[in-house]
This record gives sequence, structure tokens and C-alpha cells, in this order.
Amino acid sequence: MLACVRSAAVFGIDAAPVTIEVDVSFGLPCFTVVGLPDASVRESRDRIKTAVRNSGYEFPRMRVIVNLAPADVRKAGSSFDLPIALGVLAATGVISQRNVEKILVLGELSLDGGIQAARGVLPIAAAAPRRGFRGLLLPEANSREAAVVSGLDFYPVGSLRQAVAALNDPQPVVLTALPDSDLTEHVHGDFADVRGQFAARRALEIAAAGGHNVLLAGPPGSGKTMMARRAAGILPALTFDEALEVTSIHSVAGLLPPGAGLLRARPFRAPHHTISDIALVGGGSIPRPGEISLAHHGVLFLDEMPEFSRQVLEVLRQPLEDGMVRIARAQRASVFPARFVLIGAMNPCPCGYVGDPRRGCRCTPQQIDRYASRLSGPLRDRIDLTVTVPALPPGDLTSEETSEPTDVIRSRVEHARARQSSREDTGGALNARLTPRALRRACALDADGRRLIQHASERLVLTARAFDRVLRVARTIADLDHAERVAAGHVAEALQFRAY
Ligand SMILES: Nc1ncnc2c1ncn2[C@@H]1O[C@H](COP(=O)(O)OP(=O)(O)OP(=O)(O)O)[C@@H](O)[C@H]1O
Ligand SMILES: [Mg+2]
Repeated sequence: MLACVRSAAVFGIDAAPVTIEVDVSFGLPCFTVVGLPDASVRESRDRIKTAVRNSGYEFPRMRVIVNLAPADVRKAGSSFDLPIALGVLAATGVISQRNVEKILVLGELSLDGGIQAARGVLPIAAAAPRRGFRGLLLPEANSREAAVVSGLDFYPVGSLRQAVAALNDPQPVVLTALPDSDLTEHVHGDFADVRGQFAARRALEIAAAGGHNVLLAGPPGSGKTMMARRAAGILPALTFDEALEVTSIHSVAGLLPPGAGLLRARPFRAPHHTISDIALVGGGSIPRPGEISLAHHGVLFLDEMPEFSRQVLEVLRQPLEDGMVRIARAQRASVFPARFVLIGAMNPCPCGYVGDPRRGCRCTPQQIDRYASRLSGPLRDRIDLTVTVPALPPGDLTSEETSEPTDVIRSRVEHARARQSSREDTGGALNARLTPRALRRACALDADGRRLIQHASERLVLTARAFDRVLRVARTIADLDHAERVAAGHVAEALQFRAY
């Protein structure tokens, strides 16, 4: 007898439908899986057999052929265990075929017939209604994650027996999504803890408001790491769609905390400088998102930036430009979104004290040059704001004055972002992502502003790209200032954050 079970495979954070056809016929007993399954799917045969027997069903002593279609979609991982097992049971008449066709099935089996959590359940659930499915049979452990999707009947199951029962007599379960979880609450501190450093705080505010990348350079202990860690807190809350994307990426990466609901906090990722290029941008034979995608809609913090290997820094250039990575594999490319605010931190020289009037720097000019040149020109070109973070004067540290707290800064950022998203001639894009043409349209300079930027580009010999960068930052500063036109004051402030 022939049976069909519907399942799906994840590519990037999108899902492709996979149909599992099972044919059970008379002949020499065998169990063959065809249709380009990778090694992990082929290995699942013994697991499926054992799980079926341990659940009290008979595994047919017949010729069992399983075809995963379409053949050109690469099927990897173990989430086809459950659909294959159910297909075998449907083909032998244990399950009524009527319901099997309409319900999407995912899940990995353990030997005792239990069902384990699967990766990428959220993107599959989110795509299911679009593909015409009304029901999703999924591991109980993933039910919280899927519950945020509306328009689907859910059948969460913990064992193969429950799955069989659910298909024979479908009774949808109403899942209540958990309160949104917060991955980053423990990382944020508050900006109220940071003394002084007005230029750096301002740069981070501008970066958050316009989505700009920023580089903080200064001597050890001046507060660079401290401020960067607080930066995700000044970004506005994620919208529902953004949260769905962020949660999907974490789901595909297998990084959702158990029982997690929708991730609502902006991600903050701070990979160590020994990270490999694949871990940073994503990859692997089954493509997984890297740190830059886990930082999507949030902050990617590269502390001690010149210590990252040159190769790792260079692979960042393309995603910084495009806001996504495409990982090509023979069968199909996976696309992972990667739009984040990059915050880099570095010391100005290897010893850290060049330019510090109170301490002597021991580095030679060559050492300083070599250190600074670890960040290539093209990479620096993608960083809109560069700011010097000087050592804190001793008085500042003991002063009783409290600094501005995170939520006050965030309300200004929210306002500036709202101005950008309501701008019609740019399609509502953030200033950092405007095309040169949209930038010109969005930047109505007043007469003084125009004069100043012309003067600056002659005196400072700005390249075309640097010119755009100044304009972009000036636009964000004007947005923070509630100004329709970009005035000389905004341009002047933007020029201060220019890289040298
Ligand atoms: N501006 C500041 N306000 C309050 N505390 C500060 C400030 N700067 C530094 N500190 C204190 O010093 C500690 C070290 O600062 P931080 O780690 O941010 O320095 P850094 O600039 O990253 O140095 P390095 O270059 O060595 O990485 C902080 O945890 C904090 O306690
Ligand atoms: Mg530091």
C-alpha cells in the first residue's frame, strides 16, 4: 500500500515542503530511503524501526521503500523520523489515510518512541498556512515556539503513540503562547551607570537612531565595553514581524531556550575575537546562521576589533552591505537575514595609551600603523561613526551626578526612527540603509548646511563615499532633532564622527 505524509525542510529561515511517500509491498524484507536524503536521514532507519516496535506496533517484514520528494530539495537532519514512521504505519493501515494528507508533520524519534524537539519549527509553522496547510503535528517541546503563529490547528505530541492517536482522531489543542521571552535582559545594564563619555554616548544614540555602524576607540578602562553592552537597550522594542524573524533564526540555530515564546528583546551578540569566519557569517554542510544573523535587528559587538583575524573581518563586508548572507550549496542556497548595528571597540595602539596625556605610550609608529591597518579601508568605509573614547578624568568617576538613563535615550531613538519610517520618498528605510539616490532625496539641506558640507568636502578631501556617510549621519542627527531640513549644525556634528 502507498501512503503520503507531508513535512517540510528549512532553508535559511524559509521552509520548503517535502512529501514523504511510503510504499509497503510483498517482497524481500528491506527498508530503503531514496530522494537525496543526507547521511543523518539514512541513519534514522534503525531509529525508526526500533521506535515503531517499542511503541507496540509491528514494523512490516516486507519491502518498505520511502521516497522523499521533491528529489532536488536537500533533506538533512532528523526531523523526518516521525513523518517516515507515520508513513509506514499509514501504509500498513494503522493510521487512517484520510487525515494524513492535510496535516504537516515534524519530529525526531527516540528509541523508546518518544518525540524530541526539532529545529526550525517556527519558520515551518509560519510558512504552513501560506502553503495551504491547516494543521501541524509537532513535538510537544516545540509547542510554545509555534504557538505565536495564527491560522493553524496544532497537534502537539510527546510520543509516537500520541501521534498515531492524533492522526486517527484529530483534536486540535489550543496552544497559549508563553509570555514573550527576553534573551538579553541579563546583558543590559543601564546607561545611567556610565559616567562622562558624552561623545561616545551620543554616537551610540545616533547609531541606534539611524542604524549606523560605529567604532569606539580609546585607552583601556575608558568604558567602551561597558557602553556597547548597554547599546541594545536604547533600540526600540521589536515589532511582531521583526520578533518573528529573530525567533525563527534562533529556532533554526537550535538556540531557543526550552519552552521559549517569541523573543521580544533586541539581540545582542558579542563573539570572541577567536571566532572562525563560518561561525561569524554562518555556513556548514547543513547551513546554520552565524553570529551576524543571530544579531539580526539587534547589535553585533566586536570587542577588541583589530584582534579578529583579517579573514574574519573581511567576510563581514558583504553582509554589511547587503543586510543578508547567502550560503550556496550544490542543491539550493540558504539566505539568512543579517541587518544589525555593528559596534566595534578598539584601543588606539597595542599598548592602548597613545594620545593619553597622563600616560606614556610605548609603541613605535610602525606598531601603531600596523595595528590600525588591521581594519581594512573597505571595512572602515562601512562604519559611519568613529568616536574617540578618552580616559575618564578622575573627577568624573567620583562625581555624584547621575547620567541619563537608557529609557530616556530610547524614547528619542524611537522618535527618530518613527520619522524615518514615515518618510515616503525613501520607502521608510533607516538612514544607514538609504541608497545614494534616496539619500539625496531625504536630505534637504538648508543653505548653510549646503555651504558647510561643500566647504568640508574641499578642505577635508572627502571621497564620494565619505561624503555620503557624513550626509547620512547628518540626516539622523536632524531626525533626532525633529528637523525637516538638514542644517549646518547637523552637518557640523556629523563631521566630528568622521573617520580619519
Ligand atoms: N565611563 C565610565 N563610567 C563608569 N564606570 C566606568 C567607565 N569607564 C570604565 N568604567 C569602569 O571600568 C570598568 C572597565 O571598563 P570597560 O571594560 O568598559 O573598559 P574598556 O574601555 O572596554 O577597556 P579595554 O580597552 O581594556 O577593553 C567598567 O566595568 C566600569 O566598572
Ligand atoms: Mg573592553
